[in-house]
Amino acid sequence: MTDTSQPTTASITVGDSELDLEVLPATIGSPGVDVSKVRASLNAVTYDPGFANTAGTRSAVTYIDGGAGTLRHRGYAIEDLAEKCTFLEVSYLLLFGELPTREELDNWTTSVRSHTLLSEEMKRFFDAFPRSAHPMAILSSATNAISTFYEAYYDPKSADAFYQSAVRLIAKMPTIAAWAYKKSVSQPYMYPRNDLTYIESFLNMMFGLPVEDAKVDPVVARALNVLLILHADHGQNCSTATVRFVGSSDANLFASVAAGMNALWGPLHGGANQAVVEMLSEIHDDPDMTMEKAIERAKDRDDPFRLMGFGHRVYKNFDPRAQILKRFADDVLSRVGIDDPLLEIAKQLEAAALEDEYFVSRNLYPNVDFYSGIIFRALGFPTRMFTVLFAIGRLPGWIANWKEMHDDPATRIARPRQIYEGPILRDYLPITER
Ligand code: CMC
Repeated sequence: MTDTSQPTTASITVGDSELDLEVLPATIGSPGVDVSKVRASLNAVTYDPGFANTAGTRSAVTYIDGGAGTLRHRGYAIEDLAEKCTFLEVSYLLLFGELPTREELDNWTTSVRSHTLLSEEMKRFFDAFPRSAHPMAILSSATNAISTFYEAYYDPKSADAFYQSAVRLIAKMPTIAAWAYKKSVSQPYMYPRNDLTYIESFLNMMFGLPVEDAKVDPVVARALNVLLILHADHGQNCSTATVRFVGSSDANLFASVAAGMNALWGPLHGGANQAVVEMLSEIHDDPDMTMEKAIERAKDRDDPFRLMGFGHRVYKNFDPRAQILKRFADDVLSRVGIDDPLLEIAKQLEAAALEDEYFVSRNLYPNVDFYSGIIFRALGFPTRMFTVLFAIGRLPGWIANWKEMHDDPATRIARPRQIYEGPILRDYLPITER
């Protein structure tokens, strides 16, 4: 099924040479102009810094319409998935293309449950970090490190190796994340509990102690389920493209995902949720940093300050995830009995920005990170764990994209070109003559 209103012809002229280009139809959204023969035929390369106009792949995982504020996974609306599914159900959908039947979901859940433990040797790995280590550094290092226990599953062409690696990553990620946190507070590492759900077990590893289990509030568990689903995939963003890039050299799934985590860590990507709460706290705590001043500073070209959690490469109308979270934030905070002044500041900041010509004319709206941090905070997570939570959520998306990349030989091995601007050829000068 394709959109028949899409153009079917394209051409490019470089100097006196013209080349007809194939147009690859999309089922919905922008079709692709195939420029793969441009260099060979015209001896020129296409220039698209940041790849904002370039489809590096065809994909059937996630559809985004930034103008309309639409996000769908495998054709299902994010609003439906967030309301009706568990995170493991959405993970299955992303990885295997269909929502699972009851039996498939039970088998999938059992598989994940059977691999939640980390090897005991990993405890020493966690011990080696300083207490002050950022949990994202521990998360990506530990994800790479656990690959050393699964060398038998490195073959990217083996369907079984893929399944075994994917299950282990999804099963162990909450354990790694919780241990990264326990390290920072000098508390004993907690083991996963297979009598609990995926989310409950994670919360128990985070907030429980060997002497006393955490009392997992169902409201908190439900909220975390929704938050993880809202982060589960987002097309070809910076971290997902990194996972594909690294995986395209046949690097194993663990190594590829660890690379994606490092890409996610930056404050312009997944690190924004931490940056938002830090910004809101600054506005709250510093009498000189009023909301008006924050808006003015964000608009000042000479000031590096930006409104964190505002703007998006793709969404130029609204981010549907932010809309769900804004509604959700009030509900979650009142149910867990928290009155967080940062939520009020966030709402006022959003209202002020949405009335400001600078933000309106640039289509800058709150993104997923604007409200997620406030909810993570209300659920009891420390600020430095926010991006880790984003990573747990994004994991199935990374894995689904890694798999899709391997199923399409055309996307291997990634090798963008460049326009060379350096010196042509220089004579070597001995060091004494430079
Ligand atoms: N505060 C102030 N000005 C902004 C902001 C902001 N948050 N975002 C964009 N602008 C301005 C920017 O200065 C530019 O102005 P001008 O046209 O005068 O030069 C204009 O808006 C367009 O900005 P851009 O950087 O070209 O936009 P982009 O689409 O390339 O950048 C972005 C997207 C997310 C990097 C950027 O909006 C940003 O830095 N936002 C803050 C960080 C943030 O919230 N990141 C989380 C992204 S969503 C989670 C995820 O999936 O990673």
